Amino acid sequence: MRVGIVGVSGYTGLELIKLILAHPYFQLTYLAASTGDIMVEALHPALQDVITMKIEKASPESIKAHCDVVFLALPHKASMGFAKELWDSDVKVVDLSADYRLLQETYEKHYCAHEDAPNAHKGIYGLIEYYRDDIQDAKLVASPGCYPTATLLGILPFIPYIDTNAPLFVDAKSGVSGAGKSCTETTHFVSINDNIFAYNPLKHRHAPEIMEKIANIYGVDINVHFVPHLVPMTRGELVSVYATLKEDIDPIEILRNHYANDPFIRIREKPVDTKGVSGTHFCDIFAVREGNALFVSSSIDNLLRGASSQALAAANIMCGFDENAGLPTLAYVP
Ligand SMILES: NC(=O)c1ccc[n+]([C@@H]2O[C@H](COP(=O)([O-])OP(=O)(O)OC[C@H]3O[C@@H](n4cnc5c(N)ncnc54)[C@H](OP(=O)(O)O)[C@@H]3O)[C@@H](O)[C@H]2O)c1
Repeated sequence: MRVGIVGVSGYTGLELIKLILAHPYFQLTYLAASTGDIMVEALHPALQDVITMKIEKASPESIKAHCDVVFLALPHKASMGFAKELWDSDVKVVDLSADYRLLQETYEKHYCAHEDAPNAHKGIYGLIEYYRDDIQDAKLVASPGCYPTATLLGILPFIPYIDTNAPLFVDAKSGVSGAGKSCTETTHFVSINDNIFAYNPLKHRHAPEIMEKIANIYGVDINVHFVPHLVPMTRGELVSVYATLKEDIDPIEILRNHYANDPFIRIREKPVDTKGVSGTHFCDIFAVREGNALFVSSSIDNLLRGASSQALAAANIMCGFDENAGLPTLAYVP
């Protein structure tokens, strides 16, 4: 299959290049960014002597000419500018942005006006373990946000056993690459080195994504109090969820049964960390209870399971390949 990546100058775009180069069935045929005419190995020196290929200025016409599958590794709003031109083509689209993840009214409340309104609801949410059947026939997969990925994979198995009238508290921590390649005042070395702080507490736009998907999967409305933190790491995400149980359950047994057929979910009997999943597609999950208090801890690599390898798994399913083809398993340890 001929594969294109738009947004190759960014972090998730670079991860996608590496994944596709190692993939048994996909071949890179198109690399694009907002400006072209530069070799990919010049832009990313780590790729010198690995690949030589020109980056083009992105356009819907060249995507149609060169790709069977395209990954849009773009900021929200930029993605729909391309996606809206591809609905009437044969190209399968995996969008890493938020543009097709949410109901249109939720999207417009938290992001911006939707410029592809007739198709806004047509994206299939790419949380593999829960939507793989729908992904098979998808034209466009909306790959989930990194925080929603770690949060949903951790808490969804417990939704039938928790008090959904009580709020769900989610405390999340992310490495700086989660914010993309542009340096801002908060992601500047001087701000984040030797430091940790919350940002957008209770107002981050991944909270509505988490709530909407819980409602979509279980049909329950639950109030999610979500507080993300930035930590001085390059990659990795750790999510801690606090909930109130209404049933007498063994949390580890629930997790083991729920994910018995999901090889990239690892159930841990001790609290998880980010290093153990760094460089991999794994999501590690630990849970414990004390009385009716439930604590769930999940960890992912935000650039892989939180973005590029999750997008690759979706593309595998869309193309009828083994879902796990080319997904990275070996962590960057020590
Ligand atoms: N970073 C993560 O951990 C993570 C996790 C989950 C989801 N995501 C989502 O994935 C998407 C990409 O994230 P990222 O971290 O890779 O961002 P990034 O590092 O900021 O890269 C974004 C890329 O998009 C390109 N771009 C912007 N506008 C464009 C346009 N109109 N045409 C062509 N290229 C354009 C930029 O290229 P130029 O430099 O050439 O302008 C840049 O290389 C975002 O929607 C993000 O929310 C990211």
